[in-house]
This record gives sequence, structure tokens and C-alpha cells, in this order.
Amino acid sequence: MERDEALALLRRYVTSPSHIIHSLATAAIMRKVAGRLGEDAGTWEVIGLLHDIDYDLVDGDMERHGIEGYRILIENGVPEEVAGIVRRHNHLLTSGYERPVEVALQAADSVSGLILACALVKGGAIDEVTSRTVKKKFKEKSFAAGCERHRIRMIEPLMDLETFYRLAIDGFKDVRGDIGLA
Ligand SMILES: [Fe+2]
Repeated sequence: MERDEALALLRRYVTSPSHIIHSLATAAIMRKVAGRLGEDAGTWEVIGLLHDIDYDLVDGDMERHGIEGYRILIENGVPEEVAGIVRRHNHLLTSGYERPVEVALQAADSVSGLILACALVKGGAIDEVTSRTVKKKFKEKSFAAGCERHRIRMIEPLMDLETFYRLAIDGFKDVRGDIGLA
């Protein structure tokens, strides 16, 4: 599945602008991390785009999150390989992530909110966000409090946090125009 196709599908199910931004950011991070690990960047990006496709539908019911996403994706002909990862990504229903793609999705999903918050306090200027900024804000528990630090740290068996932050920030820069950053 191509990025454009995945984005069009996402837009059919998710209308919240902030959640489209979250999905674009998570996808951009997934792409960078895949590149670093020698994995399939295109597929990882599509997984990032589609991971919360049931966001509007489940409307906060986390017991259905991922399960409905899986159903939507299968109904739309998305391969089981991608849909299954989307189903399992709800960490409230699944534990024991071991595959790099699933580990990376946990970390990318969580760090995207932290980096976006870092950019917003700098007036939307992503160029002013560095891995040092993110490291500092990671420690400030009240900053972007909803962002789950333990899920970001899941990336550590694959790479150190500083490398991950750098890749994630680079991902944000790739989509800055699409997500309203300068
Ligand atoms: Fe997400």
C-alpha cells in the first residue's frame, strides 16, 4: 500500500485535524526509524499513518481501540500484516512487544506528542527543537503529561534515546508543512 492511498483511507475515517497531525507525525518517525534499522520504510510509514484509524469511531472506548481499526483495514483490503500490527498496538490490550516494528510504533506514537509539544512552545519552529530539548522535556513529567515516557523508552533495545529523538525530529521536519509547523 502506498502512502497516498493510506492517507486517503485515514481521512475517510478520521476527521479530527489534531489526530491527522498525530498520524502524519507518527508515520514520519516510523519511516526514519525503519531507515535507520534497515527495515521497510514505506510499510512502516503506512503503519504509522493507519495505526489510529478507528480513533473517531471508538470515541475514547479503549476496549475497542485497535480491534475496530483492524476490522476497518481488513474491510478495505489492507494486508493482514499491517492490520494485525494496528490491532495489537493498543498497549492496554496487548503486552510483550518484541518485533522491532511494534516496539517502534509504541515509541513513535508516544514521542510524537512530546516533540509536537516541544515545537509548539517554540512557536511551531521545529528547527529550534533538538534532541537536548526533548531529553529535558522528557524529564519534566508535567510537560505534555499525557505522553507516556515508559512507552518511549521501549525503543532502547533498538537504539539509544538520543538517536531516536534525532530521527524523530528529522521525521517532523519532513512533514512540517503538512502538520502546520514552521
Ligand atoms: Fe497514536
